[in-house]
This record gives sequence, C-alpha cells and structure tokens, in this order.
Amino acid sequence: MSAPLYEVEHLTRVYGRGERRVVALDDVGLTVARGQRLGIVGESGSGKSTLIRLMAALDRPTAGTVRFAGQQVSGTPERALGFLRARVQLVFQDPRASLDPRMRIGTIIAEPLRAPAIQGELARRGVPVDRSAREARVADLLAAVGLPADAAGRFPHEFSGGQRQRVAIARALAPGPEVLMADEAVSALDVSVRAQVLNLLMDLVASLGLTLVFISHDLSVIRHVCTDAIVLQGGRIVEAGPTASVFAQPQHPYTAGLLAAVPRFGARPWDD
Ligand SMILES: Nc1ncnc2c1ncn2[C@@H]1O[C@H](COP(=O)(O)OP(=O)(O)O)[C@@H](O)[C@H]1O
Ligand SMILES: [Mg+2]
Repeated sequence: MSAPLYEVEHLTRVYGRGERRVVALDDVGLTVARGQRLGIVGESGSGKSTLIRLMAALDRPTAGTVRFAGQQVSGTPERALGFLRARVQLVFQDPRASLDPRMRIGTIIAEPLRAPAIQGELARRGVPVDRSAREARVADLLAAVGLPADAAGRFPHEFSGGQRQRVAIARALAPGPEVLMADEAVSALDVSVRAQVLNLLMDLVASLGLTLVFISHDLSVIRHVCTDAIVLQGGRIVEAGPTASVFAQPQHPYTAGLLAAVPRFGARPWDD
C-alpha cells in the first residue's frame, strides 16, 4: 500500500489571545489517500475552513504537522512550497470575491501558470508556460468546464454565478493539480445551478483522477460526492469513516443531531 497523500497530526490552530482567544482547530489528525474524496462536515465555526487552509499552507498551525506526499508543509517557507502550490488547488464559495473583476477570464485562468512559486514544478513536469501554450491551455480548460472559447476575452461581471464558479474551477485545474479542495464551492449558487456545477466538478474529479477534499454544511451533498467523511465540532473531529457508515450509524450524538436536522435523513414528515 502506498503512503497517504496527506498526513495530518495533532493539528491545532489558535486565533487571538486573552478574551479573544479562539481554538479554531484542536488536535486534529487525519490522512487522505490518493483518489479519496474526503468530505468535511460541521456547523458554521466548527473549523472546516481553518483545516483546509492549514492543509493548503494558506495559514500556519499553532501546533501539529501537515505532510503532503511525505514532505513537511507546516512551517515550510513559501519559496519552498512550489511542490504544494502546483499540486493542490482550491475553489472557494464566492466566485465574486475570488475572481478579480478587472482581469479578463483568460488571464484569471492562466494565473496559476504564471505564479513564480510553481515555475520549478511545471518545468520539472515539462509543462510549457509561454504565451501561446498558456492560451492553448486556457482554451482547453474553458471547453472542459463548458464555457465558450470567447469567454477568455471577457470579464467576470459578464457571467452568471454558476459560470463564474466554472471559471474558478478552470483556474484551479490550470496547473494540473492532484488534489482539489472545495470550500462550500456550490453553496452560494442557485439550487437549479448547484447540481450542474456539482456534476461538472465530480465529472472532472473522476476523469482527471483527482483527490478531493470537499467542505459542505450540506450532508446530502457530502453523501452523494464523498467516499469518506469527517465531522468537526468545535475544532475537534467527532466522527470519521467511510461516508456510508458515518451516515448509517453515527457514533456521536452531534452527528446524529446533524442528520436529524436534514429531513431526508431524520424524522420523515410523512411518518407523522
Ligand atoms: N483569521 C481568524 N481570526 C480569528 N478567528 C478566526 C479566524 N479564522 C477563523 N476564526 C475562528 O475560528 C473558528 C473556526 O472558523 P472556520 O474554520 O472558518 O469555521 P467553518 O469554516 O467551519 O465555518 C470560528 O470561531 C472563527 O470565528
Ligand atoms: Mg468555512
């Protein structure tokens, strides 16, 4: 058996001090295997975003370690994180906030290919990043996320929320990552669009063989999408395992409570 892609041990993040002290993440340990689709569930403020920010080295832990592909992530200076920046990409909830309104879509999608931190990794893989190679890559990515080729020359405000989230997905895929992390990536979309973008995401994860770390407060989405799930409460993991067993037999009252709050899982109105 190959080593896990991610190994997280005793991960702790404390924000603020004194009366403002918040233990956002408290002694969390987990592994993510290649090809796994890990769901992270928990109510607002339970530490979900903090966990993936630490795993993606967008923040530093107070204590504990994150290793990716056997290499230490936590405490590694940015200039030495190229291996991670190219191989792990994120999609956030709000494409309005994550897409620069002054940049054309083509420039936005190509941005990761120009990032200084990942040039070494791309060169090692033989990925060409000159202007024409970038344009070709953008055209491929637009097609892959179901947007027209002429989108490259347009600006974010010309697109709907669902289309902007497709742009964010294309940008995340640009450097050919192995791991995609999605933080409530479809939660802000209209219900009608949400399923389309989620299906696109899952098709891409399958066809590209990506490892997925997927945050959602929506348990039915996690059950649909993820092979495994962890449940966070107050910064601690209270439940972890294959999705089917977490949902069929929750071991912790908190998970049972979360499930009961979802009509499809808990008390069914037609049983009354
Ligand atoms: N940069 C920060 N400064 C201070 N507190 C923070 C910061 N980021 C998160 N927190 C706090 O840490 C806790 C966990 O937050 P977060 O990881 O965003 O939770 P979730 O994503 O599950 O909603 C919350 O109490 C939040 O207010
Ligand atoms: Mg969050």
